[in-house]
Amino acid sequence: MKMQKFASLLTAVFMMNSAVSVMPANAENTLLHSADFENGTDGWASFGGTSVATTNNEHHEGNSCLYISGRSENWQGASLSGESILTAGKTYQFNAWVQSSGSDNIQMTLKYTDSSGNDQYKGIGGADSAKGTWSEISANYEIPSDATNILIYFQTADGTNDFMIDDVSITGEANWSTELLDRTPLKDIYKNYFKIGCAATPSELNTSISQEIVKRHFNSLTLGNELKPDAVLNQAGSQAIGDNVTPAISLDNARYVLKFCEDNQISVRGHVLLWYSQTPDWFFKENFDSNGAYVSKEIMSQRLENYIKAVLNQISVEFPDLDVYCWDVVNECYLDDGSLRVAGTNPNNEESQWSLIYGDNSYIEEAFTYARKYAPEGTKLFYNDFNEYIPAKRDAIYNMAKELKDKNLIDGIGMQSHLDVGYPDTDLYRQAIDKYAELGLEIQITELDITDYNSPQGNSYKNEAAYEDIIYTILWAKKYGANITSVVFWGITDGTSWRKDGYPLLINSDYSPKPSYNKVENALMELSWVPEWTDPTTETTEPPQETSETTEPTEPSQETSETTEPTAPTQETSNSAKDIIYGDVTGDGVVSIGDVVMITRAVLGKESLSDDEYERADVDGNEKVEPADSLNVMKYVVNLINKFPIQE
Ligand code: GLA
Repeated sequence: MKMQKFASLLTAVFMMNSAVSVMPANAENTLLHSADFENGTDGWASFGGTSVATTNNEHHEGNSCLYISGRSENWQGASLSGESILTAGKTYQFNAWVQSSGSDNIQMTLKYTDSSGNDQYKGIGGADSAKGTWSEISANYEIPSDATNILIYFQTADGTNDFMIDDVSITGEANWSTELLDRTPLKDIYKNYFKIGCAATPSELNTSISQEIVKRHFNSLTLGNELKPDAVLNQAGSQAIGDNVTPAISLDNARYVLKFCEDNQISVRGHVLLWYSQTPDWFFKENFDSNGAYVSKEIMSQRLENYIKAVLNQISVEFPDLDVYCWDVVNECYLDDGSLRVAGTNPNNEESQWSLIYGDNSYIEEAFTYARKYAPEGTKLFYNDFNEYIPAKRDAIYNMAKELKDKNLIDGIGMQSHLDVGYPDTDLYRQAIDKYAELGLEIQITELDITDYNSPQGNSYKNEAAYEDIIYTILWAKKYGANITSVVFWGITDGTSWRKDGYPLLINSDYSPKPSYNKVENALMELSWVPEWTDPTTETTEPPQETSETTEPTEPSQETSETTEPTAPTQETSNSAKDIIYGDVTGDGVVSIGDVVMITRAVLGKESLSDDEYERADVDGNEKVEPADSLNVMKYVVNLINKFPIQE
């Protein structure tokens, strides 16, 4: 089932795009997962340490399939997480085409945890296969009612031959909420402020519902793992080149998500070029050999340059229409006490092989130098870190970034923002934003998630309140000059979050919005109720910031400035007899945020309106001025509507 067929099936099943609301939440026979391996591994990964890669030496339909090799046990193979796809107690139709490189019975197996906490393994179906012939596995299978941690994988009945799979599909009843497909796109709500993004791995993007949600709500996407050095570097290829300084790279793991972004015009945050973690040991060793000695700083420097050049070039060549608008050039070099990450050989113990080889932090500047040299013009270069609000670490990052800024090597600071409902308080967080803003650099919130480990259900009021605090903090910082250009959530749903036990995101695992989602969706509206928010050109109640023009309240960044607000379209119709500009309650000739505030104050009884003002405020014409009017005017201001209900 290749791309075109897949697309038409999806269209038939879901009637996607414009007709999203018709997509049934619980339709039977919904295509829940489809993998054709044309653009990457489609969410399938190694099971038990095998090598899993796409190949176009063989295929069922299309041009490529998934090739599983390096097996020393029959149970080793390729797996797919069942989270967000399969529900305990439901029956699904599983289909796949398989081929052995020898002669084997290839099997599809279900792994899950039962109600006693034990791992269980059940055969879903299998097919005999011999080299040169594709065989089909086709089975109807009911997932046991107590199953959690559901995983599907392919293995052989016995023997360890390499094998291939292609055109996998899982069909059944979707257990998804489609509510988010009818909500106002988050990216539109915030379009005058910053991009709204999420991180996603191929498996998270492998349900049609997640794709539709991402397309609707996000205009920035970060690949969860697939552009990290360990996903991009190729050891055998590097050794084959043989000059000890040129690593081979491949976008095999990243291609599926990059293509999705290119096709749907979603901008990408490149993540990440240099990191102490998720970088293979052999990259630091002589002859790219895991057992080799560590190379010299001079050799490493050449490898770093060649690596950055290759990755940036390859993406431009393969995805000419993709907007990779920024890169995390360097990730996580400082410790909480502000010292450089310790030199050592064990990244699992937080040690850095970069620090080991260089002996100091000069690899940071080198990486930025190479990124500046090879990145397409206009690509913004970021330093990214966590606990970035802890004062000692914050100041170390500030000092390093200041030096890079003086050399025009850096454009922004990425604040990962892996937070908890108990820590940090927003003052500390805001101080970090303000400190970085002093540098005049962009700031992006790059990996936002907020855990509440004491809330088994996930919809905790603490999580909701923490999101409200953080989004308000971000918006206030933006208003007072911090050049915040993206806010990115680390994942799509709680179900597949790396911190899933803390339910840290805005969306439940069934894709329904959480209360915290509503807070983020409504934050601008709520803030319009705060008098100080109304008019960015008036004196601020905040003390003026010490340095840098970017923090001057008199020079708010363009997006937040009142002067950009009249970007709202002019009203198509007005009541010329009475010359009414609906929504313009203040009577200054434009519909702006000030009108939203005035209506809101009237609704709250804090202001009384004259008859004329009342008429202009009643934009739905129901002869009442109420929250719906303020909401409509807000939507008009941010270009979500271009006329009011009374003008329909
Ligand atoms: C760090 C990295 C991310 C991701 C998270 C954990 O924050 O920057 O790429 O690995 O850890 O998922």
